[in-house]
Amino acid sequence: MGENANEVPQEEEEDQIVNPFQVTVKKGEKIDYDKLIDKFGCQRLDPSFVERVERVTSRPPHVFLRRGVFFAHRDFNEILDAYERGENFYLYTGRGPSSEALHLGHLVPFMFTKYLQDAFKVPLVIQLTDDEKCMWKNLSVEESQRLARENAKDIIACGFDVTRTFIFSDFDYVGGAFYKNMVKVAKCVTFNKVVGIFGFTPEDHIGKISFPPVQAVPSFPSSFPHLFSGKDDLRCLIPCAIDQDPYFRMTRDVAPRIGYQKPALIESSFFPALQGETGKMSASDPNSAIYVTDSAKDIKKKVNNHAFSGGQDSIEKHRELGANLEVDIPFKYLTFFLDDDDEVEHIRKEYGSGRMLTGEVKQKLIQVLTELVERHRKARAAVTEEVFDPQMFQDEYQAVIAQSIL
Ligand code: TRP
Repeated sequence: MGENANEVPQEEEEDQIVNPFQVTVKKGEKIDYDKLIDKFGCQRLDPSFVERVERVTSRPPHVFLRRGVFFAHRDFNEILDAYERGENFYLYTGRGPSSEALHLGHLVPFMFTKYLQDAFKVPLVIQLTDDEKCMWKNLSVEESQRLARENAKDIIACGFDVTRTFIFSDFDYVGGAFYKNMVKVAKCVTFNKVVGIFGFTPEDHIGKISFPPVQAVPSFPSSFPHLFSGKDDLRCLIPCAIDQDPYFRMTRDVAPRIGYQKPALIESSFFPALQGETGKMSASDPNSAIYVTDSAKDIKKKVNNHAFSGGQDSIEKHRELGANLEVDIPFKYLTFFLDDDDEVEHIRKEYGSGRMLTGEVKQKLIQVLTELVERHRKARAAVTEEVFDPQMFQDEYQAVIAQSIL
């Protein structure tokens, strides 16, 4: 399907539904990411990219790149071409603040974005769509803003280069040049088109229907005159989970018609729930996810009691058949967060052949996650109001960032 084939087939007929508002598959089935690439019309991120990124950045590629967590892209090759010619680009990512604390799945795009920022030494804008969550989750304006602020602390704790990062909430920042771009985009998108892309219905309120331009325009440098003034051709690379693709399909469709560059994308699969790989982790079931606020005890309990195991029912059977690594959550989580390739290979072999038991793998996972969450907790505690306010809300500081950002 071509890039401009925005109107995806009617969702009702589909076995799997993936869009920014819903990720579901038929009961007992896994998401078919190959099918998703075909349906969305993005490109597969093949291993040659991993090598190329390593060469261009002269540093080891991130785990999420090596192990295929980021598996799809749009025009990432063009970003690398431009970078090799000595041209700069900027990163754009975001979060809809719908919950108090982030879970591990929420951290994935931010951890990866931090790596990209460090590896390429480029500026980054982070959008907090408090307006989006206010409209979709029926939160009050004030509550959405409060959650945005809380989430911003967790995001800053991921360790971005503060001299090159601009984090903003829509309620605070939308206006001026950003709003002008929103109107330019909105004029190019018919009601039929958003229905085709996002599946809106006539019963949806007009807030939802008119929201997509808000998420589209951070892809254009002219939306941030205090950061990128005079750099209207700066390319933008968006790291995100693949459920966000519809927003940027729309953005890429509109961009050339309003004289702007299309943003490039690098897209991840979803981090699976503890119960198994049938969708995204859900914020409504606390036992389906590990939160950055979980204690060591919580982590131990959740992994031991709720992580779906691909091990066999009895030890004898396990020794004989080995674990089914395709469905095993403790192993899957280790492939995300255990950096040591040799150790992961060792576990793959030993556990897969039945020499290692589920209990040992869970033990390792508990150790890895406890360390990760503890590191995050310390980093978040260091995000005091003093560090935080300047990064998000104070205009003078934004001007300082603007000078040093490029
Ligand atoms: N809509 C996203 C969410 O609900 C938030 C978001 C805004 C975003 N801009 C983005 C995500 C850019 C990735 C890239 O979480």
